[in-house]
Amino acid sequence: MYSRLVLQTLSLLAFSFVCTLIHGTKVFNVLHYKAVPNNKTENSKAFMKVWVDSCRWKGKSRIVIPHGTYYLGSVVFRGPCNGRKEFMIKGVLRAPTSPDLFLTDHWISFQNINNLIIYGGGTLDGQGAVAWPYNSCQTGSCKPLPVSLRLDFINDSAISNIKSINSKNFHFNIFSCYRLGIRHVTLSAPPDSPNTDGIHVSGSGDVSIDTSVISTGDDCISIGPGNQRIRISNVMCGPGHGISVGSMGKSDVKENVDGVSVVNCTFIGTLNGVQIKTWPDSQAAGGFASGFVYDNILMKNVDNPIFINQQYCPFNLCNPQGSSKIQISNITFRNIWGTSTTKDAVKLDCSKTNPCQDIALENIYLIGPAGFASSSCSNVQGKSRGLQKPRSCLN
Ligand SMILES: *[C@@H]1O[C@H](CO)[C@@H](O)[C@H](O)[C@H]1NC(C)=O
Ligand SMILES: *[C@@H]1O[C@H](CO)[C@@H](O)[C@H](O)[C@H]1NC(C)=O
Ligand SMILES: *[C@@H]1O[C@H](CO)[C@@H](O)[C@H](O)[C@H]1NC(C)=O
Ligand SMILES: *[C@@H]1O[C@H](CO)[C@@H](O)[C@H](O)[C@H]1NC(C)=O
Repeated sequence: MYSRLVLQTLSLLAFSFVCTLIHGTKVFNVLHYKAVPNNKTENSKAFMKVWVDSCRWKGKSRIVIPHGTYYLGSVVFRGPCNGRKEFMIKGVLRAPTSPDLFLTDHWISFQNINNLIIYGGGTLDGQGAVAWPYNSCQTGSCKPLPVSLRLDFINDSAISNIKSINSKNFHFNIFSCYRLGIRHVTLSAPPDSPNTDGIHVSGSGDVSIDTSVISTGDDCISIGPGNQRIRISNVMCGPGHGISVGSMGKSDVKENVDGVSVVNCTFIGTLNGVQIKTWPDSQAAGGFASGFVYDNILMKNVDNPIFINQQYCPFNLCNPQGSSKIQISNITFRNIWGTSTTKDAVKLDCSKTNPCQDIALENIYLIGPAGFASSSCSNVQGKSRGLQKPRSCLN
């Protein structure tokens, strides 16, 4: 009798060592799963084990990754799980340097999960510097390098207080996620690192990105096809290529982007500020980009602050005589001010066959080099209101 009690007590103690319950949230510590934060031991087995236990736990649970540097190979955290799952990264996760060690297009991936919270003040170190020279995507065909963090089919979730540095490819790739909030993230990679977009979102809805700082070698945020209601606010971009929608209109499936807002943002030293880009491919299936508001945006030394480019054709991979079948409409650029490093402060270059409709320029104040800047329109229907410097190409 006595020994059975002792045994029970001991096993209870052992269990509570592995995980504890705090305010109704079961806590799983990776260190209790033999993760070793010595910056050398490869930890993917320990991370996968802790994920499986946390995911299976019925109810709220939290994985804690304490301070320290964890060398981690590529991992996939799959759902569905039971209840709200927190992933608290306090330490640094360091990726393998060689891209050959990745069998997949990602480093850390989460799939098919609802109510996921990734937070904790920690850092994802993608160790891109060794891999960037192998990026052959500049020529238009390549085996992609792994993105640092991939979220696929994740609903009602959030990422906050996370840093990502030197991703090999995109920092975050968001696909088919609904009601996702991303805030207080800091993403950085050198200005000359290839394809290191901050956040790429596609096929998703009700995604908000706010209060973040993104400095990379490519797009700050890129909004691909299939998105609805993407809200961006209080984001500081630069260096990098700015916030772009597209590219759209190259494929034989219809591609739409419906509802984007970019509010209270700052661009410093970026190639573009706010951009919409579509391919001039008249064979493609078409689609639309509509319902966008760009409001209260400061541009500091931006090459092309306001840019609609329906002749987007990198590496001459298209027929430049073609005309885009993506219909752009209902786009408002409001309260946008600052400096442009080229004279093309406002450039609205729309499709011959599908001219832009309902474009509004309201209170624009952009100074070009030596005080000179221009506003140019082709195939655009719209209106301007309020202050217009440079003088608007719309009526
Ligand atoms: C971890 O190891 C890498 C590669 O050896 C090294 O560059 C880095 O400085 C180390 N980080 C820490 C915190 O020790
Ligand atoms: C996620 O949300 C979308 C849109 O509301 C819905 O179509 C999809 O079924 C949801 N996925 C899951 C796994 O709940
Ligand atoms: C943008 O800034 C204005 C003025 O500070 C504020 O009233 C508004 O709520 C902000 N909007 C967002 C979406 O942050
Ligand atoms: C234009 O877009 C705005 C912002 O998404 C939306 O509120 C408004 O209803 C749209 N207007 C039309 C006529 O579709």
